[in-house]
Amino acid sequence: MQTEIANNLFCGDHSWQLVINKNSKHETKIKELYTQHIQDSRPSINEPTADFGPLADDYKMSKLLMPKSDFTHDGLILPKSCEKYVTCWKISLNIALKLKKMIGRDSLVIDATANIGGITTALAKHFRYVAAYEINPDYFRVLEHNVNCYNFKNVTLINEDFTTISQFVTKPKAIIIDPPWYNHDASFNQDMNLSEVPLTELLTNLFTLCPDLLILVKLPDNYPVANYASIVFYKKMKFVIYDLPNWQKFNLDKEFQDFLRLSVQESL
Ligand SMILES: C[S@@+](CC[C@H](N)C(=O)[O-])C[C@H]1O[C@@H](n2cnc3c(N)ncnc32)[C@H](O)[C@@H]1O
Repeated sequence: MQTEIANNLFCGDHSWQLVINKNSKHETKIKELYTQHIQDSRPSINEPTADFGPLADDYKMSKLLMPKSDFTHDGLILPKSCEKYVTCWKISLNIALKLKKMIGRDSLVIDATANIGGITTALAKHFRYVAAYEINPDYFRVLEHNVNCYNFKNVTLINEDFTTISQFVTKPKAIIIDPPWYNHDASFNQDMNLSEVPLTELLTNLFTLCPDLLILVKLPDNYPVANYASIVFYKKMKFVIYDLPNWQKFNLDKEFQDFLRLSVQESL
């Protein structure tokens, strides 16, 4: 029965995503099976034909990508074209840690815009279940490669448009959205669109689907925001925590700022 459900979920149709019946006693097993399926279908990290384009240098790699458990970056891929996207790994890890304190380790957390896995892999280290979306197939291939290289078994990767999610049955506790700040023609992404959907519309949709969600969005530091729960600045970016029901409860400005400041000092 479990295998049957899982197989149905695996049949190419991604409408399975996050529609696993929350109350099903098979939920955990299905997740395990799905994770296993994803692992099995991933290409080997030593895939000889893989061509990921020009790669970033070692310095960028050490700044941006979290070291593996053997403290090296061996085998990890950081394409030069992604240097501008990836969040410094110490910041990503601290954000994951902070989120864990707020919502607990056993939660499902979604990275809506994974790119090659900067934030995804930090989440994977701290949460039991992580689902990561990346729309671009080239970045997705690197994302798969990197997640595999870290040997994370708790990450479900989805090469889909995140804005097409229409329901949550297995509800995530938190979603991280790190939208591209610039469009393909290098103009500023004024509405922080993901696939033509403005950020405000996406937030509204997500809170309609799941009102007790916590959403963390990475934005330029001068970007105007309203109705936020908490906001912290780091260099030229800010992290805005949208948390509708609890936004009074999490008054983390000072705490989160101190926390980021510490992580910045550490990374200098
Ligand atoms: C700024 S990057 C994310 C960087 C990542 N958070 C990190 O720190 O490593 C934004 C990513 O969002 C992806 N993206 C854009 N629109 C998307 C959509 N509708 N669904 C999923 N991913 C999308 C882009 O392809 C890009 O890789």
